[in-house]
Amino acid sequence: MVTFNLAADSYVRFMGRFSEPLAAQFAELADVRAGQRALDVGCGPGALTAQLVERLGSDAVSAIDPSASFVTAIRARFPEIDVRSGVAEQLPFADDSFDLALAQLVVHFMTDPVAGLAEMARVTSAGGLVAACVWDHAGGRGPLAAFWAAVHDIDPGARDEADFPGARQGHLAQLCEAAGLRHIEPTSLTVTVRFETLADWWEPFTLGVGPAGAYVAQLDEARREALRTRCAQLLPPAPFQLGGSAWCVRARA
Ligand SMILES: C[S@@+](CC[C@H](N)C(=O)[O-])C[C@H]1O[C@@H](n2cnc3c(N)ncnc32)[C@H](O)[C@@H]1O
Repeated sequence: MVTFNLAADSYVRFMGRFSEPLAAQFAELADVRAGQRALDVGCGPGALTAQLVERLGSDAVSAIDPSASFVTAIRARFPEIDVRSGVAEQLPFADDSFDLALAQLVVHFMTDPVAGLAEMARVTSAGGLVAACVWDHAGGRGPLAAFWAAVHDIDPGARDEADFPGARQGHLAQLCEAAGLRHIEPTSLTVTVRFETLADWWEPFTLGVGPAGAYVAQLDEARREALRTRCAQLLPPAPFQLGGSAWCVRARA
């Protein structure tokens, strides 16, 4: 189980640089419209929440996350929205509370993704939208692809994120089907992020965020330097741009 008991700022520096541009595209894909009520499941420090608040206003947005530090951070960022501490698998909301329930980069961290998606459907009114996205870790198109390729060159047995739920083609749709969702439409989204220097790219990997950060954290100094050097060999010379593609589904409750 991956936990996110870390400073919200570390998460933003590591993944926010990809999840913020992804959130803008994901909100477009979800066709968020004024007048709707929306739930951001696994909101983290609020990349997608910000998009929902911009489109719907604070009164129409709720957010939930199990990480205490992220809940504190998002409450400070959006004091007027309804923020809860909790998990997707047991949402503390009544049936039919929302028109949209969205989970950006969360399904692969759920203990029980089918139960989490079924809960998202339960709290969404009939015919409302449930949508989720997960980086394409299995296809090597996620934003961490160069990192995990370098890890495998040095440590072939290391466990990456490729077998996480929803991270391979078609799996999010299978999970949605198992959760009883209807009219499931799979698609994908791609973001591009520019890095001025190798250090800009590498330094956030040392902050302990997610499986990649946990991998770096358990390396000694020499192995960490060997990994950084291998990453530099695989990446384009700085400045460079990196793409990140996510599998997405839109479905109906
Ligand atoms: C990669 S972060 C994504 C955060 C945010 N949605 C974004 O796009 O930046 C994954 C988030 O899922 C949360 N999470 C982990 N397990 C969860 C679960 N079972 N239910 C809901 N959220 C969960 C974590 O605390 C973390 O905030």
